[in-house]
Amino acid sequence: MPDQYAVIGNPIGFSKSPYIHGTFAQATGQDMAYAAIEGPLGGFAGAVDAFRAAGGRGLNITAPFKLDAFAYATERSERARLAGAANAMKFDGERVLADNFDGVGLVRDVAHNLNRPLKGKRVLLLGAGGAARGALLPFLEQGPGELVIANRSPGKAQELVAIAEAAGARQVRGCTYPELAGQAFDLVFNATSASLRAELPPVPASVFAPGCLAYELAYGKGLTPFLRLAQNAGVQHLADGVGMLAEQAAEAFEWWRGVRPDTRAVIAKLTLALI
Ligand code: ATR
Repeated sequence: MPDQYAVIGNPIGFSKSPYIHGTFAQATGQDMAYAAIEGPLGGFAGAVDAFRAAGGRGLNITAPFKLDAFAYATERSERARLAGAANAMKFDGERVLADNFDGVGLVRDVAHNLNRPLKGKRVLLLGAGGAARGALLPFLEQGPGELVIANRSPGKAQELVAIAEAAGARQVRGCTYPELAGQAFDLVFNATSASLRAELPPVPASVFAPGCLAYELAYGKGLTPFLRLAQNAGVQHLADGVGMLAEQAAEAFEWWRGVRPDTRAVIAKLTLALI
């Protein structure tokens, strides 16, 4: 029987993970199967117990279970601990290893696929929730010249600044949206959940410096209000999270199987026009 993997979430019908991992498995010749599990709300642990009892080797975790997965694990990577959330698990007997590849996947997409390294750049991160937390350490590892975290509720942005400073970073600041007036950045990331409701974070259009990359972490929403704002401000480099999705999957795949899949075919297939 092939080794069993799956993604668990609720709802799960729209997940691209079975397609992505199926493509990776075929391309790398790995004998594995990858399913989608709709975990019952409030019943995450039971669903994972059943998957493991049936021989399951690893899971990807999507909304709303990333915190449950973190709690379920017996060992957690540093980046999962920092994010307080897990998006991948590996099962080894009684051991349950948890990691979080969202942030590294994002950085790999930006630095490698889009060829926009963060080193020395002015970087703006919008939002201070789970998605922003996941990006924090991977961003800092790239050595940005400046990292500003803007959030509606300033306390959450300051929490992330404190985490960054505890990790030794000195170039990180937190602020509110109005305080962004008059500041411009080379890379602007929307890590708020606003786009999921077609809302626009109240970011001034002046944050986009000439040649700026505007990156929407959400995927498959077309031209979101944030990307439209950027486009109207003259930004020519727009991206959504399709590359991040593929790269975090590749990280998990390599963690499980020891083989690094090529993401180009998957990204080409899943890319939707930003219109
Ligand atoms: P996720 O796991 O997707 O990051 P989350 O942890 O609930 O979700 O965090 C959502 C983030 O989006 C928060 O930073 C939130 O800002 P607040 O902390 O001030 O609530 C931000 N957010 C959601 N809707 C927003 C909107 N319309 N404008 C600006 N920020 C928004």
